[in-house]
Amino acid sequence: MAVLLDGKAASAAVRARLKEEVAELKEKGIVPGLAVIIVGDDPASRIYVNNKKKACAEVGIYSEEFALPADTTQEELLALVASLNGRSDINGILCQLPLPASLEEKPVIEAISPLKDVDAFHAANVGHIMIGDFSFVPCTPAGVMELLHVAGIDPAGKDCVVIGRSNIVGKPMAMLLLHENGTVTICHSKTKDLQAVCARADILVAAVGRAKFVTADMVKPGAVVVDVGMNRDENGKLCGDVDFGPVAEKASYITPVPGGVGPMTISMLLQNTVKAACLQNALLFDKR
Ligand code: GUN
Repeated sequence: MAVLLDGKAASAAVRARLKEEVAELKEKGIVPGLAVIIVGDDPASRIYVNNKKKACAEVGIYSEEFALPADTTQEELLALVASLNGRSDINGILCQLPLPASLEEKPVIEAISPLKDVDAFHAANVGHIMIGDFSFVPCTPAGVMELLHVAGIDPAGKDCVVIGRSNIVGKPMAMLLLHENGTVTICHSKTKDLQAVCARADILVAAVGRAKFVTADMVKPGAVVVDVGMNRDENGKLCGDVDFGPVAEKASYITPVPGGVGPMTISMLLQNTVKAACLQNALLFDKR
């Protein structure tokens, strides 16, 4: 049976560290501030945003929510972002995705100042990651790396397979594993013989968005299996992209869902916000 990569415990450790850091900043008169924009009434987005605000409060970060109606225009949303870019008490800005179909995401992402882009979605920050400069690291892949580090798992020289090529997870995940000297393959819907490619992986990261997509035959005995998925199974129960029971029998390490990558994502958002506040106040953020 695989060892669980415990996202709740690793996340609590990051948050305890950040709480101290925020307290030190406050002594210098700096309160890190995060603006959270949510448009429309997507129930999953509402839960994510509530969890993000709660986590901010837990470590002492000031957060301000901007809940806009679903019929908000592109211009209104861009005007809000512009006003937040200009506020010195707001160090980080995130716009919860997906946006309603009537709005385009790309112009909004590009309107957020790269210095306040705590999601690391802006093309400038994506470019920084490509050349190995990790000012802001996208939260979910950063959370996965932190989980690996805590367990003492080093990707160097390992075959790493990422299933999924999204801008939010798959692509940056591959870059972070590559930066730590993994040999990385990105799989997607057109990949030939997905089972065989996955079965070669020492580290397998599933970011597909389909319940129980990764079955035991796709996993090499002793592999590290990281599940980024957050789905509902046929009974409406929360589950990941990995068929947990049978895969856990074969893997050496595995992340549970919930309680694996999920809590780490929010902790990395908090870390990016503290980092943004330090950079904007010309203080060095000691690299963890
Ligand atoms: N929607 C799903 N994941 C994310 C995320 O990490 N950040 C934002 N802004 N929206 C998301």
